[in-house]
Amino acid sequence: MKILAIDTSCDETAAAVTKGQRVLANVIYSQILIHKKWGGVVPSLAKRAHEERIDFVIEETLKKSKIQDPRTSIDYIAVTNGPGLAVALEVGIKKAKELVKKFNKKLIVVNHMEGHIYSCFVQNSKGNPEINFQFPYLALLVSGGHTELVVFKNHLSYQVLGQTIDDAAGEALDKAAKLLGLGYPGGPVIERLAYQVGNADFYHFPRPMIKSKDLNFSFSGLKTAFYYFLKKNGYLIKSGDGNQKLNIEKLASSFQAAVFDTLIFKVDKAIKEIGIKNLIVGGGVVANLFLRQRIRQLIKKHNGSVLFPPFKFLAGDNAAMIGVVAYFKAKKGQFVQDLDKLDRLPRLSL
Ligand code: KG4
Ligand code: ZN
Repeated sequence: MKILAIDTSCDETAAAVTKGQRVLANVIYSQILIHKKWGGVVPSLAKRAHEERIDFVIEETLKKSKIQDPRTSIDYIAVTNGPGLAVALEVGIKKAKELVKKFNKKLIVVNHMEGHIYSCFVQNSKGNPEINFQFPYLALLVSGGHTELVVFKNHLSYQVLGQTIDDAAGEALDKAAKLLGLGYPGGPVIERLAYQVGNADFYHFPRPMIKSKDLNFSFSGLKTAFYYFLKKNGYLIKSGDGNQKLNIEKLASSFQAAVFDTLIFKVDKAIKEIGIKNLIVGGGVVANLFLRQRIRQLIKKHNGSVLFPPFKFLAGDNAAMIGVVAYFKAKKGQFVQDLDKLDRLPRLSL
């Protein structure tokens, strides 16, 4: 079963052709350079960039997968319908509807966060890595817009245990980087700086919510604490031009450590409370090697197992993960019945 999948939920225009769990072609057109100078994603610019690039991205994907006639070689079309940026989601949905009519196919809609869960189970065109599903899993999702702890009970079946009540983990890293004048997206820059000094708590920032009884997260207080710390120490926030009293590498490392400690604390709590030791981790922040190391240590302590997205492109936004979810939905006959009623759902939850 071949699926042409599209994701335009935020700032990557992405398409993929998948066959079961295998990716035959994957194209991602990143908008980072467009948004970088604004310090974050600008919705109107994102919309325009998606509109300008989507045809090219789809054409490239079909070409790479050697599909000459989608009418005969593609079985279904899939698209992300939420959560995400409304004006960005709209572009992908409109294009998907257009293709569905043109190629006379059925449409499957996919939740973007569901995609990040399945990103751990995507295979290359040769079927590697080999993966057997061993339900249930505990899933930690850490992206720019979401931080969630979910029980992945069985295919397409989830129970949300906790989520952020304000900023997401990636968003916290992005905001801290912005305060330091490091540009967007902040996560990778913070990681690079932290590498130079190692993962340590040079300046101590709060670990939010670790005393709370639930499995929710909160990162906005940490961001505020960081802001006042910089201000108190005379850091030139607007220009990002440090006054040398504070060391930027140590700041990056300490902030990152506060975010990751909080994540680890809650995953540890969830494992103890619900007894599931098989973890999967998805979302852009999982690209971070410090975080991966911390998670591996935790899992070792519990004698459990952990899966990360097997290829680098699967950590960030991509359409391959959407195609793989769509495959499991197609097997269950979950198609869009009425195209006219299909709309984007920016706040869609699992
Ligand atoms: O999943 P994703 O690509 O997009 C959303 O669905 O939001 O996640 C983007 C987030 C951004 O906040 C970015 O700073 C973060 O992932 N990120 C990282 C790294 N690479 C991307 N955070 C920490 N370390 C990284 N290496
Ligand atoms: Zn994402």
